[in-house]
Amino acid sequence: MNDSSRETVSSRGLVGIFDSGYGGLTVMKEIAALMPHYDYVYLGDNARTPYGTRSFETVYEYALEAVKWLFSHGCELIVLACNTASAKALRSIQQKDLPLLHPRRRVLGVIRPVTERAGTFTRTGSIGLFGTTGTVRSRSYELEISKFFPHVKLAQQACPMWVPLIENNEYENDGASYFIGKYVEMLMRKDPSIDAIILGCTHYALIAEQIARFVPEHVRLISQGGIVAESLADYFHRHPEIEERLTKRGSRVFFTTDSPRDFDALAEVFYGKPVRSSRVDVSSAR
Ligand code: DGL
Repeated sequence: MNDSSRETVSSRGLVGIFDSGYGGLTVMKEIAALMPHYDYVYLGDNARTPYGTRSFETVYEYALEAVKWLFSHGCELIVLACNTASAKALRSIQQKDLPLLHPRRRVLGVIRPVTERAGTFTRTGSIGLFGTTGTVRSRSYELEISKFFPHVKLAQQACPMWVPLIENNEYENDGASYFIGKYVEMLMRKDPSIDAIILGCTHYALIAEQIARFVPEHVRLISQGGIVAESLADYFHRHPEIEERLTKRGSRVFFTTDSPRDFDALAEVFYGKPVRSSRVDVSSAR
């Protein structure tokens, strides 16, 4: 099987990667590059994107449906490659649902791997965060960073316009530049001593270059993909009982809840390779 396969998934032992849309592909790209031998299934809930402006209950309900669907299609371990879902749904899924659904399988998020290292990003002790409204309001980054690095200060900026611009392939025009510049300025005004900014939404990796044009030169932008991939590799080392249940045929399969034609047209920009997806209805998964 290869990256453009339309094969259906019937076996067990797969690694599932989930996002509200395309953003998780930037994470999958790094994970699959670091650990190419595993079998990956990507699910983008494009029909219901964006999640960033939705309520806690809605994001939890959508993410749980996706997790159930990925489990029913053979995933042994799922990465919620979506900060909004990691912030609003991960804990409930891990603590409430997983023990009842599949106690031996795992669901991981993307916030912890980044916050565990946050102190190493900064010299001034001031970090910035760009995220969706949901991620910012959840205060997940703030709470996690304060556990690992109590002296690090975090200033947050919600960027509700960025995901729609990216999902609609409008991120390279003047309108996008306006909103990128605007949110950068708003964040830097909150704390001018920021010397590192976390791109706390998996979509934002795609506009890292545009963001960099507006941030002061000494400020480092931190994308999540590579960090999440390294953290997952480390997780597998520490949990051989899970790693040994994963199949190793090097396959990649892509699913979307909306039009596969639209998905395939834009997915390549995020994933870096052509993608051929199939459409699924996740609401029927048990
Ligand atoms: N890519 C997602 C994240 O990391 C969410 C984008 C959205 O659906 O608003 O937060």
